[in-house]
Amino acid sequence: RVVRSGGERIALMSEPSDADELAALTTTLKRHLQRRQRAGLGYLPKASPAPAKTVRPTDKPNVLGGTELDMLADNSAALQTESLDDLRAAIGDCQRCKLCAGRTHIVFGVGDPHAKLMFVGEGPGRDEDLQGEPFVGRAGQLLTDIITKGMGLKREDVYICNVVKCRPPENRNPEPDEVAACEPFLKKQIDIVRPDIIVGLGKFAVQTLMSSKVPIGKLRGTWASYHGIKLMPTFHPAYLLRNPADKKLVWEDIKLVIKEMRGENT
Ligand code: URA
Repeated sequence: RVVRSGGERIALMSEPSDADELAALTTTLKRHLQRRQRAGLGYLPKASPAPAKTVRPTDKPNVLGGTELDMLADNSAALQTESLDDLRAAIGDCQRCKLCAGRTHIVFGVGDPHAKLMFVGEGPGRDEDLQGEPFVGRAGQLLTDIITKGMGLKREDVYICNVVKCRPPENRNPEPDEVAACEPFLKKQIDIVRPDIIVGLGKFAVQTLMSSKVPIGKLRGTWASYHGIKLMPTFHPAYLLRNPADKKLVWEDIKLVIKEMRGENT
């Protein structure tokens, strides 16, 4: 790995504490229980050492039109995978949230499965939905320019994905239940790729990764940490298309990333 954990700047960054880890686990468990409850599955089954009779999940539709079988078959398989291909396969023809109704393709992610650098955006737009690949529209072209012309890398050298994998209607922000359904897969992607650096693109992705409500204008340009991985928050390329004067700020952020990848940050 090019990036080293040395130098004053990195030494100042704290690893997540046990309390942080516990809080993250509690949040994940809470969301899981809420999802089960919304799907009409109630809370966790009571542990029972020797059930008299095997109770099988039914394929009777629940309140959301899904079935217990769907629910039980979903995340546990996906979250035990060890490669991106297996994770994508385990996600399958996902029906875990309402975004499935309007999508053309699930936009999983693209790039080097062992990339040192990962970009995380919000969710697919129209072009991405049609092509099944993240950041291929106008904003995507700008991101590609940042990677190729700005950083001197190829798109294939990095890994690119989004918080949610299906296009929200009219490109609205993903809703909390949609993020809750999809976030475990983003976490798993990060866990599998294990990049040295994540660049969070825009308010939505950054606030999701940082579990923060602080405005992106305040967060950008300062190193943060995502479970021990260096996280650089910056503006979204779509925002830059509307506000080209802020491109210079993104370039400042990207220069910090380049320095960090070269091991030059002090
Ligand atoms: N905007 C995003 O956040 N992601 C994409 O993939 C495309 C546009």
